[in-house]
Amino acid sequence: MCGITGVFGTNASEKVFHGLKALEYRGYDSWGIAFPQKDSFFVKKEIGKIGLAKFSLPTSSTLAIGHTRWATHGNVSKKNAHPQFSNDKKIALVHNGIVENFEELKNKLISKGFSFFSDTDSEIIANLIQFNFKKTGSFEAAVRISLKEIEGGYAIVAIHLGENKLVCARNGSPLVLGFGENEFFVASDVSAFVSYTKQVLFLNDSELAVIDGEVKVFSVDSGKEKKFSLKKINWDIEQAKKGEFKHFMTKEIFEQPETLKLAIKQPEKDVSKFVKLIKSSKKVFLVGCGTSYHSCLSAAYFFSSISNVMVECCIASEFSRVEKFVDKNSLIIAVSQSGETADLLEAIKIAKKNNAKVLSIVNVMGSSVMRISDCYLLMNSGPEICVLSTKSYTSQIAVFLLLAYAVIGKEDEAKRIILKTASSVNSLLKTSDKKMKVLAKKLAKKNDIFVIGRHDAFPVALEAALKIKEVSYIHAEGFAGGELKHGTIALIDKGTPAIVISTPETRKLIVSNAIEMQSRGAFTIGFSSVENSNFDFNLVVPDVGFADAITRIVPIQLLAYYIAIEKNLDPDKPRNLAKSVTVK
Ligand code: AGP
Repeated sequence: MCGITGVFGTNASEKVFHGLKALEYRGYDSWGIAFPQKDSFFVKKEIGKIGLAKFSLPTSSTLAIGHTRWATHGNVSKKNAHPQFSNDKKIALVHNGIVENFEELKNKLISKGFSFFSDTDSEIIANLIQFNFKKTGSFEAAVRISLKEIEGGYAIVAIHLGENKLVCARNGSPLVLGFGENEFFVASDVSAFVSYTKQVLFLNDSELAVIDGEVKVFSVDSGKEKKFSLKKINWDIEQAKKGEFKHFMTKEIFEQPETLKLAIKQPEKDVSKFVKLIKSSKKVFLVGCGTSYHSCLSAAYFFSSISNVMVECCIASEFSRVEKFVDKNSLIIAVSQSGETADLLEAIKIAKKNNAKVLSIVNVMGSSVMRISDCYLLMNSGPEICVLSTKSYTSQIAVFLLLAYAVIGKEDEAKRIILKTASSVNSLLKTSDKKMKVLAKKLAKKNDIFVIGRHDAFPVALEAALKIKEVSYIHAEGFAGGELKHGTIALIDKGTPAIVISTPETRKLIVSNAIEMQSRGAFTIGFSSVENSNFDFNLVVPDVGFADAITRIVPIQLLAYYIAIEKNLDPDKPRNLAKSVTVK
């Protein structure tokens, strides 16, 4: 879950530096840059976020690579920061992924006289290339042969001293090339170079590219050269900036009145493809991770209540549970903001192996999930930089509501509800902002927060707890209100915060749950369209029918944000997390 980048062109080191800043949300425990300088590499590695670092490096190089890290192999330290180097110090490499057979390869190289200076699996690749370079005499051939020995997902960019070229490749982890005026870029995602060019090439799995004033693409497996065509990116760097907001989290929360409207702008032909497959498939599986899984759970209520279609929701990493039931009559709808989540790609591979149809709902144009799907719908949320998914979650809910109504031929009803919800969210953001700030002061000192919801508010309770956990590091647990008396109520004590998500349909039962907790001393916080004296704290939120999940989660996104601010934490880059989980 690192960010990697490389530049071939003028001021390469400076452009790599700024590219890393844009990629920081992918991993931010350490960073590094390297580029050839005379007959060695200039190397700079630092612990911590590149965020505020000022550029002060030599600019002469026309070649440079860089990396921002999310540690998987080896602790956070300068020696484990990238770029990693070969023993002969002639090869510099940045890597995103995990070498699953690192032990075997390391022992092989040690038996060939190689030694290792870091604890990373990435250093093994650099030495493997040195080892194979001796055999092939060609840098790109050595890279290709080395990659064939690696098990596990990877994306790499490498430089060989004395060769004026970048060699990069991917299998599982994302990699995109940018074609500028006499300059070329490669990165984990377009945000690293979108301010220089919007002409891009998304590398496919098992593809290798050589950039040396022109670009050639080869198959890693066969070595054969491959044709390619460029795509044009439809968003700009301004969209990936904070604007007047202090953090991306608030910027993206306040974008939701607009992103909700964009979410329902879907090509009719693709919506009908989804509808046709949802109706004709014997089994429909909704699959995702984290927040995307939570929107799948909300969708299950939409499909059963509106479309009268039974769907099965699966956490992607647990998809093997249903594998034997997946066949050519099955439909998988994969949901992912980044479109690069490794567990989801794995689940899709299983589904495809069983001849199932795979559709996807993604936010990132050109992402792996999008490209291996039979058809896809884009969330149209624009770049989501904050590690926490906020606008992409409500867009997923909106797209699913559109699909559920489309199955019964009533798209317009879904559009009416979402447009009404978008304007409700606009006023709700204004009315709830201050109240959430006040409430956050009270909750920031707490160790535990519980969130309950019934029926279609249950998945919202899960999402609410996830937002609070991710950004405030407070233990928060979301669960179905009906489960309260089956155990969790034992944890309710004097002053325990209990967030209660109420909808018109579930109000009676969920208020009685609130009373049960209040009688054990809980501080009950009600998100409901009706004030209620059984809540110690009330926030009135508008009812918008099936889209109630959206008007309930938006103020809780704000609450989570203000708790983080109250605790002086970075809401955009919470500890131990990364925006796109590209390793299993
Ligand atoms: C949500 O705030 C988290 N960032 C995380 O749970 C995320 O939803 C999960 O990793 C799935 O990511 P995706 O939607 O990009 O696949």
